[in-house]
Amino acid sequence: MKSSCYENRLILAPSIIGGNQANLEESLREIELSGSEWVHLDVMDGQFVPNVTLGATIVKALRSKTKLFFDVHLMLNNPDFHVQSFIDAGADSITLHLEPNYPIKKTLELVRSKDCAVGLALNPLTPLEKVYPFLSFVDLMLVMTVNPGFCGQEFMPECLEKVQALNAFKFKNGLDFRIEVDGGISLENAKSCILAGANTLVCGTSFFKSKNKEQFHKEILGI
Ligand code: DX5
Ligand code: ZN
Repeated sequence: MKSSCYENRLILAPSIIGGNQANLEESLREIELSGSEWVHLDVMDGQFVPNVTLGATIVKALRSKTKLFFDVHLMLNNPDFHVQSFIDAGADSITLHLEPNYPIKKTLELVRSKDCAVGLALNPLTPLEKVYPFLSFVDLMLVMTVNPGFCGQEFMPECLEKVQALNAFKFKNGLDFRIEVDGGISLENAKSCILAGANTLVCGTSFFKSKNKEQFHKEILGI
């Protein structure tokens, strides 16, 4: 397992669905050249969210093109059915949503047992309390800052209350998981996310629209 997930430092994870869908390899190169170590891969089923994106076959094809950390975000109604194919495709971490009806703890344990980091994601309207029973089983918590489904939506600042509460819970209970924010993250709001306790920033539109991606990477992480 790659160690960056377990290091306590800020990480930018550009979201490849914000890149060139006709040339994903080119988008991977842009991410590498920016200095980012992670790529965020959004997997949508048209059921849990109203959009369909990429599947395990594409993740596997991309795996052969880069050493970037593969941060796979599954927006699926039956993630338990699909996790093994994304592990086999070369995911370094797999994040599942809390909202669908499936055996959550068993699925988290399965992913971890396969030497893959595991995360849980929460939609903006899902109360944070629902995740508390699972926090000792995760390596990452993803707080959605838009309703999932599409790139380019407007950041919802009210979601940062959850980031603050998660961060407080983490320290109070001696837990160690990354806190990732996803949706509408930009140079304008990244600082507020980091101050709230996020250490992993997913950026689709803002990253791929930036003219100088190396500069963007440095600026958004404050380095
Ligand atoms: C939204 C996805 C996000 C999205 C982010 O459902 O989970 O990862 O790609 O794109 P931006 O940064 O444009 O909101
Ligand atoms: Zn995502």
